[in-house]
Amino acid sequence: MAEKKKFYIETFGCQMNVHDSEKAGYLLSSIGYEAGSSPEESDLVILNTCSVREKAAQKVFARIRELNARSKKSFGQRKIFGVMGCVAQAEAEQIFEKAPPVRIVLGPRSISKLPELVDQINKGFPRAIDVRRDQDPDFLQLDPLHRNSPYLAYITIIEGCNKFCTYCIVPFTRGRERSRPAASVLAEAISLAKAGYKEVHLLGQNVNSYRDELTYGRQNKPGEHFAALLRTVAIRSGLPRIKFTTSFPRDFCDAIVDVMDEFDNLCNWVHLPVQSGSNRILKLMKRYYTVEEYLRKVERIKRSKRDIALTGDIIVGFPGESDEDFKQTLALVKEVEYDGLYMFKYSPRPYTKAAMMPDDVSPEVKSERFAALEQVQTEVQKKRYQRYLGRTLEVLVEGRAAKGQGQLTGHSTCHRVVNFYGEESLIGSLIDVKITELHRNSLFGEMVSGRLRDTLRSSPAGASG
Ligand code: 5AD
Ligand code: SF4
Repeated sequence: MAEKKKFYIETFGCQMNVHDSEKAGYLLSSIGYEAGSSPEESDLVILNTCSVREKAAQKVFARIRELNARSKKSFGQRKIFGVMGCVAQAEAEQIFEKAPPVRIVLGPRSISKLPELVDQINKGFPRAIDVRRDQDPDFLQLDPLHRNSPYLAYITIIEGCNKFCTYCIVPFTRGRERSRPAASVLAEAISLAKAGYKEVHLLGQNVNSYRDELTYGRQNKPGEHFAALLRTVAIRSGLPRIKFTTSFPRDFCDAIVDVMDEFDNLCNWVHLPVQSGSNRILKLMKRYYTVEEYLRKVERIKRSKRDIALTGDIIVGFPGESDEDFKQTLALVKEVEYDGLYMFKYSPRPYTKAAMMPDDVSPEVKSERFAALEQVQTEVQKKRYQRYLGRTLEVLVEGRAAKGQGQLTGHSTCHRVVNFYGEESLIGSLIDVKITELHRNSLFGEMVSGRLRDTLRSSPAGASG
């Protein structure tokens, strides 16, 4: 029998891309390809790309040049290169000019067309492209038996974004919002639970915009359909742990925290990106909320009977950001006390409104503000992490730790990285770990013996993270 052709997908960017790569891998398997263990040994190499920041987009082209140079030297010219994801959508045909080795370009809403494009190339066409939007009715669903991990899975509940924040390319690359019917989300969640999955992340650029009028009615306020979906999945899926990301502050409603308070299998974590602590900048960003409104939502999260970990995103150096605006961002970060913060230097992106504003904060000032914010967050995090010391957290063991011989790593329900010593056989289990050391961006602990938890969590809400 002829040897199967191999594919290799390299993924950049968010969880949505990680999940799209799983979908692409599944489709390639269905046309007779098998996963290769490196780009070198693979016939088809696909880069699944992110264009949310300029640096991320540039990386793609550098990586193609590097892979192509290596491929010429050591493994001949047979290799096919493809680019999928947000750079593919944003740059479309231009990619063929910028990166001549690339022969396939596939937008994030055309994933199901991948087999056809590969077929065209195999038939001798020099190039194949599909960057159409809103044409892929099945793009949200993936056979749960074909995933990267047998214990942690992603489920897309909503794709695209209608918010058009002035700095953000996502509405242009991922297109308008489309929600998946609740029944389909639930069916996938149930089949994952039956297959033994321990944790599921409900994904969307803005999960709070989720809508399913047929199931949940027409009159609801923003966020309430999502709260209803969370309730449905929490009650009916049988999944031990459910996380969700990303929440858009304006649509984040109290009902979401009410549901989290009620159901133990909804994890103790909310990612609520604020972007700036200045009302003037929030207005320029067209975020449609004020710092005061944001803080009110944070206050509800903090009043939860669970100990919910809160994380966020901040952009420094947005056009026109003054020292005073930035000071307000620092003040907000100190007040909110995030358990984790993702920080970005502003970069202009194609198609966006902000790209037409002067990028007038110098690279030096952006770097200074970034460093100052990092320092404040390090202090905040040190203080926040104190509460974990001596506490027992439930951890999903995800693999060997990159550093530390013999250590395993995983995430708590509060989505903190937890490392500890343990046997490899624990990978994929939920176990209790008592926290003994606090590190800058992770926790370290000891496994609590005899408390291997493979079934539904039974501890009272809040006691485990
Ligand atoms: N420049 C810098 N950061 C950005 N982000 C999105 N667009 C830009 C941009 N043009 C950040 C936001 C968002 C995160 C995923 O990336 O903070 O929440
Ligand atoms: Fe981008 Fe704003 Fe949509 Fe988030 S809510 S994906 S930042 S446009």
